[in-house]
Amino acid sequence: MRVSPSLPAPLKAALDGKLQGVSRTDAAQRSAKISNAYRTGGNSGGIKSDADALAYALARMPATYAAVAASLNALIEIVPGLAPETLLDVGAGPGTASWAAAEAFPSLASFTLIDANRTLSKLALELAEDSPQLAGCSYPPGDAGENLAQASIADLVIASYLIGELGESDQRALADAMWAKARNALVVIEPGTPAGYARILALRQQLIALGAHVAAPCPHDRPCPLAAPDWCHFNQRLPRSQAHRQIKGADVPFEDERFIYVALTRTPVAARRSRVLAPPDFGKAEITAKLCTEDGVAATKVPRRDKPAYAEARRWRWGDAVMAES
Ligand SMILES: C[S@@+](CC[C@H](N)C(=O)[O-])C[C@H]1O[C@@H](n2cnc3c(N)ncnc32)[C@H](O)[C@@H]1O
Repeated sequence: MRVSPSLPAPLKAALDGKLQGVSRTDAAQRSAKISNAYRTGGNSGGIKSDADALAYALARMPATYAAVAASLNALIEIVPGLAPETLLDVGAGPGTASWAAAEAFPSLASFTLIDANRTLSKLALELAEDSPQLAGCSYPPGDAGENLAQASIADLVIASYLIGELGESDQRALADAMWAKARNALVVIEPGTPAGYARILALRQQLIALGAHVAAPCPHDRPCPLAAPDWCHFNQRLPRSQAHRQIKGADVPFEDERFIYVALTRTPVAARRSRVLAPPDFGKAEITAKLCTEDGVAATKVPRRDKPAYAEARRWRWGDAVMAES
């Protein structure tokens, strides 16, 4: 099922409920402090109290949810028959990826969330009480590595905005461990920065060597054809609620989340499609789009005189999987 970038109604209601009686100024200050820690190379270690966890969830959950939703939509588009029953959400934080996966896959019946931060896991469990699917989820506290070793294999494993919090050797060990626990698919999402892209690229290469196939975004399992300083990322627009705007001190009613992801599967992908790597240029005489194709990166031009192809290309958006000649 295609997932909307907006938080699902029960999650929105649960967050709004938690905000009752909480000072928005205090929440905004906490969220600014947490964001600043991220910007200066820190991690979520500064989320220490219930108030911090709520501030983090209010400020960041809408955007990370939208990025996970977009990544799962891309996976479903390429592997339409995927119907996982079990999910492992690694570095789950407030449960963001689990909520998105519940929307994407009505087949999911068992959710295991893993995170080192007890404050965030407490919040996740409280929020999950309001979800028909997530209410019975399990959330063992502790380090991802140790908990992963003990977790059962799951049909789908997701790590959203986690691996950037780990050192390089821990990232490699975690990638192996997550792949070992993924029966059908593993989806890893990171911020859409050059560093996030580099982490995804390294994980992709490591797991292809172990037999993984790339379902999305790449239409091939070969090394990424982009040459530095070029890099790959996508954008997801999401609506901002009034509370979200207040916590972020923002005026506009939407936000653009830049992200990068890789969706890996155990079985080879049946039908490959080219990926739109940047906003296409919709010119009068032709549409020009930067595509990642099975044969490499192409600046594809679709002339207006080729009416059916032009009509099709007018619908192309950054991040879309499209049928196109290279
Ligand atoms: C940026 S948050 C992302 C949370 C959530 N996945 C999301 O997308 O909104 C990163 C999370 O990874 C968790 N984390 C970092 N290192 C970890 C580790 N070694 N084991 C388990 N969780 C870890 C943090 O506690 C935090 O909740």
